[in-house]
Amino acid sequence: MDQIQIAPEAVLAVLPNAISNFKIVFLKQIELKNFRNYTDINLSFEKGTILIIGNNGQGKTNLLESIYYLSSGKSHRSASQLDLINWDSDFFLVRAKVEDSNDKLIELQLGSDNNLKIRVDKVYQKRKTDFINIVPSVIFNPDDLNLVKGSPFYRRNYMDEILEKVIKGYSKHRNQYGKILNQRNSLLKSMSKDKKLLNSSTFDVWNEKLIKYGVSIIKYREKMLNSIRGKFFEIIDYFFKNSNAEIDYIPSWYRKVQKPIGNIENIKEEYESHLKNNIERDLKLRTTTIGPHRDDLFIRFGGKDVRTFGSQGQQRIATLCLKLCELFLLKEKLGKYPLFLLDDVLSELDLKRKKLLIKLLENKFQTFITTTNTSYIEGLDMDISKSYRVENGRVQEIKI
Ligand SMILES: Nc1ncnc2c1ncn2[C@@H]1O[C@H](COP(=O)(O)OP(=O)(O)O)[C@@H](O)[C@H]1O
Ligand SMILES: [Mg+2]
Repeated sequence: MDQIQIAPEAVLAVLPNAISNFKIVFLKQIELKNFRNYTDINLSFEKGTILIIGNNGQGKTNLLESIYYLSSGKSHRSASQLDLINWDSDFFLVRAKVEDSNDKLIELQLGSDNNLKIRVDKVYQKRKTDFINIVPSVIFNPDDLNLVKGSPFYRRNYMDEILEKVIKGYSKHRNQYGKILNQRNSLLKSMSKDKKLLNSSTFDVWNEKLIKYGVSIIKYREKMLNSIRGKFFEIIDYFFKNSNAEIDYIPSWYRKVQKPIGNIENIKEEYESHLKNNIERDLKLRTTTIGPHRDDLFIRFGGKDVRTFGSQGQQRIATLCLKLCELFLLKEKLGKYPLFLLDDVLSELDLKRKKLLIKLLENKFQTFITTTNTSYIEGLDMDISKSYRVENGRVQEIKI
């Protein structure tokens, strides 16, 4: 595996809050060639709310996915970007005009060799970081209910993906932790066969590395959670009066008792002692049971875990609030209004809450809303700047 040379705290720099006025960034035009089921489209947009209407399987999500890819350099639903290339082609092209103080032209072309060619204002760039976050976005779709109802994996991923967007080096750091964890797990497998290895210095070295990287992951997640907590309560109360909500970080060693993390200053010592005390268990299970890869985030309403005891409505609102926290945090940290991509979610909210949501966005975030049926936006008194109908990879502007 790669040599680990970087000291965790040194690589990671938390972006300070943006002090200047927030920039309104928006997508003016997007051209897609051979992206999913779009062989060739060219669409123009304006600020405000854009509506995308179409039956199931026509390409609504694919369109939002292309915008999300433009923001983050990855798909929100496929692990491999190669999946985005049209099945009958060997490349895709995303070409976008973005308003960001002045106009920017971003061109991304991926070939079947997985080599991404990036151009910003016609100049070739080497790394994805050269275009990521020029036009940041947050995507929200019905599967996000897993954030509240699903396994802890989804909640860890939520925290990590936000951190990757706002902290330089976090993604690399997270990968390093994953590699060290894999090494330790392989070692555990060998040790369960040969107990002599338990006293080897190699094991100590891996434990030390694991703790070093693990501690800073926990610290960053905790810091991130602290900076969204206020907003989370504010938004939850806005949608659900007197919800009495709580949100806490639960370390792996407190998951059974559901106890929030203690004093973050002592985290290293706590982590070390729990890792040590669980070696027998780790050997038996042949895997590492202690560390940030097993942590969780707990949301309670009136003291009750929303995952198991929350009503469907509460779970949906909690999910929406997490997504909105991401939206507002990115705004604070990046100094611009991210795009908000709402994929098929309006059908899941009642009219009152849909209205509250629209009001909260204040028409400041360029918002893309997909829906199968215009009845879901009836009575919303929403200013729609453009509407498109999608049918089998073809898009047409419509008036509604
Ligand atoms: N790489 C690809 N090449 C061509 N078509 C694709 C590709 N990936 C998905 N599709 C097609 O895209 C369609 C789904 O589009 P999607 O945006 O998910 O629809 P919806 O309008 O329901 O959101 C399906 O018909 C699927 O077969
Ligand atoms: Mg869809």
